[in-house]
Amino acid sequence: MFNRRQFLTTSAAAAFPFIIPSRVLGAEAPSKLVRVGIIGCGRISTGFEIPNLMKQPGLCRIVAVCDLDEKRLLNAKEKIETGYRKGLKIAGYTVATYKDYRELCASKDVDAVMVCTPDFWHALCAAEALCNRKALWLQKPFTQTIREGRLIANLAKKYNAVVQVGSQQRSDHQFREACEIARNGLLGKVTRVEVGIACDKPGGSDAVQPVPSTFDYATWLGPTDPTAPYCESRTHSQSGYGRPGWITMAPYGWGMITNWGAHHIDIMQWGLGTTLTGPTQVSGTCEWMDRSGGKLWNVHTGYDLHYTYGDIDVHLCNKYWKGVKFIGEKGDWIFVRREMLKKVTSSDGGQDDPSKKKKNRKPRDMRALISNREDLLARVADWNSPLLCLKDDRATKLKVSTNHFVNWLEAVRAEDPSATVTNAEEGHRSTSACSLGHMVMELGRGKAEGASITWDPVKETTGRADADALMTPFARDQFDLRKTLARFGLDFDREVRG
Ligand SMILES: NC(=O)c1ccc[n+]([C@@H]2O[C@H](COP(=O)([O-])OP(=O)(O)OC[C@H]3O[C@@H](n4cnc5c(N)ncnc54)[C@H](O)[C@@H]3O)[C@@H](O)[C@H]2O)c1
Repeated sequence: MFNRRQFLTTSAAAAFPFIIPSRVLGAEAPSKLVRVGIIGCGRISTGFEIPNLMKQPGLCRIVAVCDLDEKRLLNAKEKIETGYRKGLKIAGYTVATYKDYRELCASKDVDAVMVCTPDFWHALCAAEALCNRKALWLQKPFTQTIREGRLIANLAKKYNAVVQVGSQQRSDHQFREACEIARNGLLGKVTRVEVGIACDKPGGSDAVQPVPSTFDYATWLGPTDPTAPYCESRTHSQSGYGRPGWITMAPYGWGMITNWGAHHIDIMQWGLGTTLTGPTQVSGTCEWMDRSGGKLWNVHTGYDLHYTYGDIDVHLCNKYWKGVKFIGEKGDWIFVRREMLKKVTSSDGGQDDPSKKKKNRKPRDMRALISNREDLLARVADWNSPLLCLKDDRATKLKVSTNHFVNWLEAVRAEDPSATVTNAEEGHRSTSACSLGHMVMELGRGKAEGASITWDPVKETTGRADADALMTPFARDQFDLRKTLARFGLDFDREVRG
C-alpha cells in the first residue's frame, strides 16, 4: 500500500518530477486556465474525459494524472503531452504523474480534480479533493453508499466548491427538453414513469492470477477486503481499456442499478422535479448472476422495482427499452434516450411506441426526431427550434448546458457552484435513489417476494437497522473517511450531520 515515502520513490514519480512551469501552459495567462488533475486513467478518462478536456485549450490544461496502474498512468501522460505539444504547439509540455491521489489533491498547481476511479473509491478521492479546497468533477455514481454521498454533498456546500457530476445526459438537449415537457405539464399531470436500464450478463473468471508488476493491486482494493485474490476480471484489463470487471462485481460496483441507474434515474428525478429529495418507498425483486463454472461476477441481472414519489409510480425494469418514459394522466407520454426523443399522443394507440422492446430494433436518429415535430407542434404552440428548445415563456426552465466539460470549467473559472448542471446535492440525491434500489435487492436476497423499504428523504433513513447498515461507508486501515477528515481537523459524524 502506498505511503508518502513509497510515492516519492516510484519510478513514475522519479521520472516525471512534479514541476509545471507556467511557460508550458501556453499563450493564455495561467490564471485564466483551470489546471486539472485527473485521478484514475482508465476507460472513461482516456476515452472521454481527457479528449474532451483537451478540446478546451482556452479553458483548461490537464497538469497532473494519477493511477495505481503504471501502464495506464504513463499512457495518459504520454497522450496528454503529445496532444498539447503537437496540437497546441506547446513545446516541452509536461504532465505530472502521481500514484497517491492525496499528493495530487494537495498540489498547489492543481485547481480542479477529476475523479474517474471505480465507484468504491469515489468518496475517499472526492473528500480529499474538497478538503484541499479544489473544484471537483466526480464520475457517476456519486458515491458507493448513501452516507458517503451525504458527506461529500455537505463538504461541497461547506467549502462552496464547484462540483460537476459525470451525469452528462444533463448536457444533452433532448434529456433537458423531455424533462421540461414533463415539468411544464405538457403531458398533463405525470402519473407514472418507466425507466429502462439494461442488465449485465454473468461472466468473469475467478482463476487467480499473479499481480502484474506495474499494478498496485493492494492499494486498488482500498477499503474493501484486502485478501481478495487478484484476477483481471475483478479489476480492469491489462491489455486495453475495455469494460472493467469491477463494474459487475460487488462490493466494487453494484451493477446496472447504480451504473446506468445513475444516468436514467437522474433524468427521471430531473423530469419529476425531485432532484433535491427522493422516493418515499422502494420495493421489488431481482435476479442474481449465475456463478457456476468459475464465473466471478456477482451483481444483479434482471430486476423489477417500484419507486413511490408522492402519487407517482416509477417502475424500473430491465424489460423496458433503455431510456426514460414520462407518462401523463391521459396516457400521453414522452420517451427519451441517448440520441433520441420521441413523443406520441394516446390517440396513436401506442403503435409506434419505441420504449417497447423489439428484436433488432435500431434507435431512431435525430432526423426521426425532427420529422416527428409536427405532432408536437400541433399540441405545443411554443415549440420553436430544430433542437426542440421550448420558448422562454415556459414556467419551469431547467439549467442549460450544451457541453458538460465547458459548463464545469466555466463554473470553476467563475467560482460559481450554482452554475453546474449537476451539482453535488443533486448528484447525491440521484445516486441515493439508485442505492435504495440496490438496498432493496440486497434485502430481498433469497425471498421470492423481494423486499420493500420506506425512505425518509429529509432524515435520510429507512428506519430499519438492516437497511441503514447498507448505507455505511466501507473503511479499512488508511482507507477510511473518518481518518481522511481527521487529517483536516474535521469530524466525520459532524460533517455528515451538516
Ligand atoms: N459518465 C459515464 O458515462 C461513465 C461511463 C463509464 C464509466 N463511468 C464511471 O467512471 C468511473 C471509472 O470507470 P472506468 O470504466 O473508467 O473504470 P476503469 O477501471 O477502466 O478505470 C479506473 C482507473 O482508476 C484507477 N484507480 C483505481 N483506484 C485508484 C486510486 N485510488 N488512485 C488512482 N487511480 C485509481 C484504476 O487503476 C483504473 O485505471 C466509474 O465510476 C464509472 O462508473 C462513467
